[in-house]
Amino acid sequence: MSEITAAITAVGGYVPDYVLTNQILETMVDTNDEWITTRTGIKERRILKDKDKGTSYLAIQAAKNLLSKSNTDPRDIDMVIMATATPDMPVAATGVYVATQIGAVNAFSFDLVAACSSFLYGMSTAARYIESGKYKKVLLIGADKMSSIIDYEDRATCIIFGDGGGAVLFEPNNEGYGVRDEYLRSDGIGRQSLKIDAGGSLMPPTSETVANKKHYVIQDGKTVFKFAVSNMADVSAKIMERNGLEDDDVDWLVPHQANKRIIDATAKRMNLPDEKVMMNIHRYGNTTSATLPLCLMDYEKQLKKGDNLVFASFGGGFTWGAVYVKWAYSPN
Ligand code: UT7
Repeated sequence: MSEITAAITAVGGYVPDYVLTNQILETMVDTNDEWITTRTGIKERRILKDKDKGTSYLAIQAAKNLLSKSNTDPRDIDMVIMATATPDMPVAATGVYVATQIGAVNAFSFDLVAACSSFLYGMSTAARYIESGKYKKVLLIGADKMSSIIDYEDRATCIIFGDGGGAVLFEPNNEGYGVRDEYLRSDGIGRQSLKIDAGGSLMPPTSETVANKKHYVIQDGKTVFKFAVSNMADVSAKIMERNGLEDDDVDWLVPHQANKRIIDATAKRMNLPDEKVMMNIHRYGNTTSATLPLCLMDYEKQLKKGDNLVFASFGGGFTWGAVYVKWAYSPN
């Protein structure tokens, strides 16, 4: 019997309409387009302005986009994994609500929370369920309404993040397409470097935590940058080495979009030219759990059956890793 691998068979995505440009940010905090562009590569990001819509809205739009593009009946989906750092609510998983809203009434669902590596870890989780042979259609959604946890008076963070959602469908494959290998890592040394202090069990919300802005993301950018540059490159190089992939064998790097300089360093270590690196940070900023599927959405038409893709991410926690995927389909 041939081995089952977990192939990506469909992609979908969604970004909200409102465009927050560097020029608009110049009017909000002490920053400028030149600084943001040279330090991060970001030109604009999308923001979900509606106060009554949470991350589930982004996830539902992304999933619906996938379902209609691929003509998938949501009742056939066995499982929905919701990768996010910004669930709608602390209790009552966002994924459960999303699954019901998209009509995936036969699926079970849960949230997977691992900061910017949520989607990458979700790829690993989805693959294991498919490889078990028991699950035939696993929908992995990555979505974040980062604007809900960003302080728009803090220039160190507000220039970086944006809102968005993306989704991929995993199905069993008997010809070796799909997830081939992964190297996932984490290290609690990063706990203080990128975090939200309050709102969890350690520091429940009080009027003081709100007044002191303890519910917003704070980041020691320099430290995170240092760890991200070396670790994202390390895992990407490692996954190439242990799968016998030379630079010519890699068709695409699909990197988490946190900073263009981190992406460039990873590509350099892998000896890949710019043409092989998926990049849309200039348009969306860092959408946390949505960066990887939004890359797939934007580059889907250029992907061919048999292409070798290396996904890589680094995020809060710290959490990071790389996943090697053999792409399963060519454009119609
Ligand atoms: O996805 C999750 C993982 N996150 C990451 O991977 C993010 C990693 N870190 C980074 O991408 C970068 O560290 C940042 C983009 C966040 C910051 O870039 P940097 O080159 O590390 O800048 P810095 O924090 O060292 O600040 C350099 C200078 C400082 O001024 P002084 O002290 O040199 O006078 C900052 O105060 O730039 C100043 N600065 C700004 N200036 C204009 C900081 N933020 C801004 C800003 N506009 N928005």
